[in-house]
Amino acid sequence: MGRLFSPIALGPLEIGNRIVMAPMSRTRADENGVMGSLNAQYYAQRSGAGLIVSEASWISPSGRGLANSPGLTDENHVAGWKWVTDSVHEKGGKIFAQLWHCGRASSPHLAAGEAPVAPSAIAAYGRILTPEGFRNFPVPRALDTDEIRGIVAEFAHASKNAKDAGFDGVEIHAGGGFLIDQFLQTGSNVRRDKYGGLSANRCRFLFEVVESVAKVWGEDRIGVKLTPSNRDFGMIDADPQILFTTAVKGLDELGIAYVHMVEPLESDLKEGDVLKDNAQRFRPYFRGRMMAGGRFDAAKAEMILEKEGADLVSFGRLFISNPDLPERMRLDKPLAKPDPETFHGEGEKGYTDYPALEPHPYLRLVEEE
Ligand SMILES: Cc1cc2nc3c(=O)[nH]c(=O)nc-3n(C[C@H](O)[C@H](O)[C@H](O)COP(=O)(O)O)c2cc1C
Repeated sequence: MGRLFSPIALGPLEIGNRIVMAPMSRTRADENGVMGSLNAQYYAQRSGAGLIVSEASWISPSGRGLANSPGLTDENHVAGWKWVTDSVHEKGGKIFAQLWHCGRASSPHLAAGEAPVAPSAIAAYGRILTPEGFRNFPVPRALDTDEIRGIVAEFAHASKNAKDAGFDGVEIHAGGGFLIDQFLQTGSNVRRDKYGGLSANRCRFLFEVVESVAKVWGEDRIGVKLTPSNRDFGMIDADPQILFTTAVKGLDELGIAYVHMVEPLESDLKEGDVLKDNAQRFRPYFRGRMMAGGRFDAAKAEMILEKEGADLVSFGRLFISNPDLPERMRLDKPLAKPDPETFHGEGEKGYTDYPALEPHPYLRLVEEE
């Protein structure tokens, strides 16, 4: 049996295997972003992962970009998430909360009734579902320099709520074309203050968020997700190699537990010229744990662990349809295919109704005795 199943230290935590459940928004919180018992059941079913990273939770109402996505801003959110973390812990699992602010990838009806905010007044590429139907993303309002401090504080506040909700740590979403990523990349950031210009300036917001969250959690319970190849929402940077090297070196100095580095997905590859082999590419600049994700299967995962291109591997879509994914990989059993029609939506269909493997008949006999 390969390295996927060997335990590893992650900051102060000992985790049982190298298999991480990637953060995935499933839009099954209530309309106020509060999680409940169905969500607790879904995450508990997947607690065989060495670590679960929760779906992204908004850190302020103005950072919401997806209906029925969870929040982490008030005590109702804390109570709902507590249900989830208790259920995962009861099954022996570990779970980090992913925190996001969607920035320009939103619209007023989601972002507290106001124009979405962003580093610069440049609209995201694409369309968003509004109460009037699908519309182009609106042109966002560029944040004042002074306002940025407020958003950094909101990240700290949400991470305090994550602690109260019983999470084991937090992952800061700095990819996917959302607010932090919008600051990082030249296609969405043309600021002339200390948050724009050179790559070090464009990374400043990310580093300030990490520092503020570290005051709550300690740096060794923080991960940061980066998606250097992502082209969703029209994300683009003039020199991604330099940008992401600066980002990873800075995160190394801050001493965080892990960087979650996503490889190009099918949609990125369609766009042509994108960075590839990102975990291995940026690994030399980071001394903490490197987590690779994006289009992995067990064989590819073993290969990257073997080459020491990463310490952990995240799996997204396969975890949707295989609640017991680590067990199936360990036994080399066939994997179920996920149905994209039910990735987002309501209720248990395509959420909690994917079955686990039947227990071996011998085990069933033992249980029945
Ligand atoms: C339904 C769905 C929702 C997702 N939501 C999030 C999210 O909330 N935060 C995030 O960082 N990534 C999100 N992702 C991206 C995944 O974390 C992951 O990086 C991606 O699916 C690639 O991994 P895979 O090929 O193993 O699925 C989502 C992906 C899917 C399929």
